[in-house]
Amino acid sequence: MFAEKNVPLRDLNTFGIVAKAQVLYRIRSAQDLCDWIESGQSAGQTPLVLGGGSNIVLTGDVKSPVLKMEIAGMALVDETPKSWTVQAGAGVGWHELVQWTLQNGYYGLENLALIPGSVGASPVQNIGAYGVELQDCFDSLDAVDLSTGKTFTLNAQQCAFGYRDSVFKHAPARPGDVGLAGRAVITQVRFSLPKKWRAITGYADIEKYLQARGLATPNAQQIFDAVVAIRQSKLPDPKVLGNAGSFFKNPVVSSEQCQDIIAREPTIAHYKLHDGTVKLAAAWLIDACGWRGKTMGAAAVYEKQALVLVNQGMRDGKAGATGGEVMTLAKAIQTSVYERFGILLEPEPVVI
Ligand code: EPU
Repeated sequence: MFAEKNVPLRDLNTFGIVAKAQVLYRIRSAQDLCDWIESGQSAGQTPLVLGGGSNIVLTGDVKSPVLKMEIAGMALVDETPKSWTVQAGAGVGWHELVQWTLQNGYYGLENLALIPGSVGASPVQNIGAYGVELQDCFDSLDAVDLSTGKTFTLNAQQCAFGYRDSVFKHAPARPGDVGLAGRAVITQVRFSLPKKWRAITGYADIEKYLQARGLATPNAQQIFDAVVAIRQSKLPDPKVLGNAGSFFKNPVVSSEQCQDIIAREPTIAHYKLHDGTVKLAAAWLIDACGWRGKTMGAAAVYEKQALVLVNQGMRDGKAGATGGEVMTLAKAIQTSVYERFGILLEPEPVVI
């Protein structure tokens, strides 16, 4: 494994932001990672671990070492009378895994079709869409501890999954706290897919798609097709228009807070959660503040989905949006949503 110098990152982040890595290493196995740690090439710096680059905003050249995760491979590693266990390398594209499981008859990931990013990044923010979250089909993962160079395995409970959240997003605040941000690099992920499959169709857009086609008992392929069609109709393809998916998390408020807001804004989109709290649609809040389709330099709010910020790309001879422009737009949105609703939107991507 050798150090590549001054590597352009534009094609390695789905926002398509122009930046360079001063030094980049391609990691093709857990052993590569252990060798890299042992060689001392980190020089005490925390590396930037890059998967599909679908959840980052680059605000300049990256000075810390970049580890580009390229661990390949997908396989059935276990089978019980009730379930299949499938394992994939951290560098496998998420959608590639969804397609492979479907082709092999291991169903359960179809609601998560077309989510950009890599398998290794998927547990970090517990990716989710159309009524399914990664934690629903997660078995375990292997990771390497950057401070010791040792490999370890975590089950679902140890990953502490939450809404777009996990142990990998938190640094320990106090001694004894669990928190693996900046410390663990995921190398392999295993999924447990039940043999007794059932379609998850509760999400309104999916129901509408199936009803329109008279599909009362859809199979996994039909759910996959529905999710792909819905995503393509409202989310921009990063290959065409740079973006990092939803830019903000949907805020969760108490039912009292929600009643207060509903009294003022009767049409607000919201969903009751099991614990009595209420999830508000961030897209609705942003839309209500008039942001849909607005631009700031080459950064813009996507015209079909207000929760997605996009890089409009090359215009007037300029190289597209900078990370600074994206963040200025994001902050302006946060301010106007806060001023109108008293809610501070929390960004989803990591700003570098
Ligand atoms: N809405 C608007 N204006 C818009 C778009 C939506 O008012 O421009 C309102 C509508 O009322 C709609 C509601 O917002 O019913 C929710 O919108 P949508 O169904 O598109 O879902 P979302 O809450 O914006 C979440 C996830 C997506 C995931 C979809 C489908 C988050 C932060 N985002 O979006 O995940 O694909 O649900 O399950 O939870 C991602 O995380 O990158 C992502 C794309």
